[in-house]
Amino acid sequence: MNHFISINQLTNEQILELLENAGKYKTTNHKISSQLFAANLFFEPSTRTKMSFTIAERKLGLEVLNFHAEASSLQKGESLYDTVKTFESIGANVAIIRHESDNWITELEPKINIPIINAGAGKAEHPTQCMLDLLTIYEEFGRFKDLNVVIVGDIKHSRVAKSNAHALKRLGVNVFLSAAPGYEDESLDYPYVSLDEAIQYCDVLMLLRIQHERHEEKLETSSYLTQYGLTKERESKMQQHAIILHPAPINRGVEIDGDLVECSRSRIFKQMTNGVYIRMAILTHVLKEWGIIDENLIKEC
Ligand code: NCD
Repeated sequence: MNHFISINQLTNEQILELLENAGKYKTTNHKISSQLFAANLFFEPSTRTKMSFTIAERKLGLEVLNFHAEASSLQKGESLYDTVKTFESIGANVAIIRHESDNWITELEPKINIPIINAGAGKAEHPTQCMLDLLTIYEEFGRFKDLNVVIVGDIKHSRVAKSNAHALKRLGVNVFLSAAPGYEDESLDYPYVSLDEAIQYCDVLMLLRIQHERHEEKLETSSYLTQYGLTKERESKMQQHAIILHPAPINRGVEIDGDLVECSRSRIFKQMTNGVYIRMAILTHVLKEWGIIDENLIKEC
């Protein structure tokens, strides 16, 4: 049985099935008719991911166990493993985990006997964000094949870029990267392009946050927008149908002009909405995979 750790574990068919199920959850309410507990274990700050998991869980009728790292036994030196094992022992049926380490899963994977969903692993992977991005792109274009998606910004420190690049490529997208000098990532083998080039042919411009908390040296951002960010002038040169994505939180006025966050081609708030439904699909997927529920327990209501 698989934990939901990396987008690379899913086949293209499984990805499309999750997108389809998210669409179903968007249009009709569904609840699981069995008492189940979901533990949201966030060891790094989160607004969207944590809260959209919470809403997804509640919509499905799961009981949500909220955990506050700063008020937990972590402060007494308890390890990640002992914390997760505690939730397993007291009856959690699924654990949603975000942690700053790139590979926290390696320690947990063989020893935790409830499904784990990766809600962000260091700079390595963010599969549920990737799935909500895929849903947003799919809803817009109805396909992936031959779309041009340019991932722009602090690629080096971004788990979102890593999950998305591989999944998009597998689905037939032409993936390009664009980064300020020093923010490229050697592990990603995709063509680098300048933003001025990219805006002319991209169908999707996927902007990333400058992730100051992961930088060794503080980046001076006063000229970042004009040099490497999405200004109004650049936005005006995008193809008419092209859309803007950003996983947020957003540094308004740095990677994107603040006014463009709400512009007509921005799908940033739609991404947030889609996060709820794709997480409902992911939760039911793992609970079914682990034999915790079967399809009959998911009732339309
Ligand atoms: C992202 C994350 O935490 O990796 N945000 C999110 O989950 N919506 C991106 C980021 O922090 O910049």
